[in-house]
Amino acid sequence: MSIFKFPFFKKKQTNKIEHEINHTINLPEHIAIIMDGNGRWAKKRGLPRFAGHKEGMDNVKKIVQVANKHHIKILTLYAFSTENWKRPKKEVDYLMQLPKEFIHIYLPDLIKENVQIKTIGAFDLLPDHTKRAIEHAIDKTKDNDGLILNIALNYGSRHEIVQAIQHIAEDVQNKKYEIDAIDESVLSKYLFTSELKDPDLLIRTSGEKRLSNFLLWQSAYTEFWFTDVYWPDFNEDVFEQALIDYQNRKRRFGGL
Ligand code: IPE
Ligand code: IPE
Ligand code: MG
Repeated sequence: MSIFKFPFFKKKQTNKIEHEINHTINLPEHIAIIMDGNGRWAKKRGLPRFAGHKEGMDNVKKIVQVANKHHIKILTLYAFSTENWKRPKKEVDYLMQLPKEFIHIYLPDLIKENVQIKTIGAFDLLPDHTKRAIEHAIDKTKDNDGLILNIALNYGSRHEIVQAIQHIAEDVQNKKYEIDAIDESVLSKYLFTSELKDPDLLIRTSGEKRLSNFLLWQSAYTEFWFTDVYWPDFNEDVFEQALIDYQNRKRRFGGL
């Protein structure tokens, strides 16, 4: 009997076919990632938490390259939540200087790769040095028309919705809108994500299965994908598994 008849061999062959990404069908245009597990990644190696954050920062660049390779249009990365200020000051300070470090190391490459940098979140409340670095990166990449790297920094969905309501109330007071004219599309325009389509796929690393105040409004019909892998270990293979799973989902948006 030839080994080609053994079922395990056949299965392996089928898997290989299943694991190829078909670029002509059903790829997500907007992927959002909750990059979680930096601290646990470090702890597992007996390293301080900041080492996990540093490794996680380097991984952002790698994953941007993979997203680019698969022609993803928007990659929204949750880098710091409105609740992360509760962490020890030393860790917060470290996290707040990471954008500067990321931009210092990787901006030239990102410019070459035609990446456009954007942010969502309560930008004004960031430290000045963080704001300056990000403004510089946004300015240097504003004419790029490739992948949008959208960094959620000091982002919280509830805060985003509250500030949208405040601005809408102001505009109603100033007679810009009648109350009856406020609908879903109007509210969407007041969110930080006003220029971006809703995410098609949301990935969370590290085994946690919650949104942690990320894109609550925007993810109404997003496909969710969870992995136990910690963010610094999230690599091309894992990313591609998520893309293949997404390609096999049936999105119905309430229809049949
Ligand atoms: C994600 O990793 C990065 C941020 C939230 C800033 P964590 O720092 O949350 O890592 P864990 O969840 O403690 O492992
Ligand atoms: C969510 O991770 C925020 C970011 C990844 C930036 P957290 O680690 O802060 O979330 P919780 O506290 O486990 O829900
Ligand atoms: Mg965490």
